[in-house]
Amino acid sequence: MKPLGTPLSPAALRVMLLGAGELGKEVLIALQRLGVETIAVDRYENAPGQQVAHHAHTIAMSDPAALRALIEAERPDLVVPEIEAIATPVLQELEAAGTVRVIPTARAARLTMDREGIRRLAAETLGLPTSPYRFCDSLAELQAAIDGGIGYPCIVKPVMSSSGKGQSKIDGPADVAKAWDHAMAGGRVSHGRVIVEGFIDFDYEITLLTVRAKAAGGEVQTQFCEPIGHVQVSGDYVESWQPQPMSSVALQRAREIAGAVTGDLGGQGLFGVELFVKGDEVWFSEVSPRPHDTGMVTMITQWQNEFELHARAILGLPVDTTLKSPGASAVIYGGVEAQAVVFDGVAEALAVPNSELRLFGKPESFVKRRMGVALVHDADVDTARIQAKKAASLVRPRKA
Ligand SMILES: Nc1ncnc2c1ncn2[C@@H]1O[C@H](COP(=O)(O)OP(=O)(O)O)[C@@H](O)[C@H]1O
Ligand SMILES: [Mg+2]
Repeated sequence: MKPLGTPLSPAALRVMLLGAGELGKEVLIALQRLGVETIAVDRYENAPGQQVAHHAHTIAMSDPAALRALIEAERPDLVVPEIEAIATPVLQELEAAGTVRVIPTARAARLTMDREGIRRLAAETLGLPTSPYRFCDSLAELQAAIDGGIGYPCIVKPVMSSSGKGQSKIDGPADVAKAWDHAMAGGRVSHGRVIVEGFIDFDYEITLLTVRAKAAGGEVQTQFCEPIGHVQVSGDYVESWQPQPMSSVALQRAREIAGAVTGDLGGQGLFGVELFVKGDEVWFSEVSPRPHDTGMVTMITQWQNEFELHARAILGLPVDTTLKSPGASAVIYGGVEAQAVVFDGVAEALAVPNSELRLFGKPESFVKRRMGVALVHDADVDTARIQAKKAASLVRPRKA
């Protein structure tokens, strides 16, 4: 790969982020600290990452022609998908033609944008433990899958969706039609395919941040961060903490699963491997081939946060996944529907000991939109959780 150079000059190393929300913004900042010239792409103007990048473009990344035209015009050295809703076949074509390098690989981006691709790879090709599952194209097929073995309770999700959109739990026959309709309304693209999964009654769930990066000798090595525990409400992350205490057997098993799935996806970069844990038993749930929302906690807990790890790994540089301090993160929701909100309570929040805030700068607030995050470090992870939630609750977005 080209050496690191000077932005806005012919010697620049240029990286394009496809998706420039709060996670992309932090990756862009990490890249800029290494003198990389950055290009932020999103579907709306003034997305958080567009505000810090050298160049910004607003296109529909799910539109193959628009995506191809932009990549061919910019000719970045690396293309880094930061969201799932991308015309990934175009990335595969451009990668195959040698036009760009896609992070971690175009195949990984394609498999993970669709729950079917990654689930079949993990469960059927790699033989990893997962919840029982079936794919269904109609309400009748969904009912048949449940009656034929998935049973109750179970969870229905559109195959193309994220952040819990269109997802619901079915406790009995009366919920099935409602869950189907909810999935049809919440999917990213209007093709009516869902996955139905048996409900795993886990003790806790984790994200195991897994990094594939070059070691000094030039070979790609797999390294793991300390496990991140998190709480999801309606499929959306509300708080996370690191480290999540685990039995040594469960931790070993989690690392084996994460190593297997990221090893198959390949390339270089950081992955967020989502796992369910009950006692010593571990199930694979899903994987993001990019930084993970629950991993925002690493901005206060690790010497190199998940965004810096991703930036280093994709640039072929060595990484350090060591924990600096236990800590926690708590999400700040918009709470209002408004353009250009202002934030009350910031000084009070930052008076919480050992706290930090990130306000993402999103141009529009929705009641359930993630507008910021509170971060707290503390030697005791339970204290950090309480204090992070307190700091987050003190920040109040409102209409300007
Ligand atoms: N089979 C399952 N059993 C129990 N809980 C589940 C199951 N599938 C999903 N969940 C819960 O819903 C959350 C979101 O599901 P996930 O598949 O990760 O969707 P998304 O892609 O929207 O993040 C999970 O983190 C977990 O809390
Ligand atoms: Mg998830």
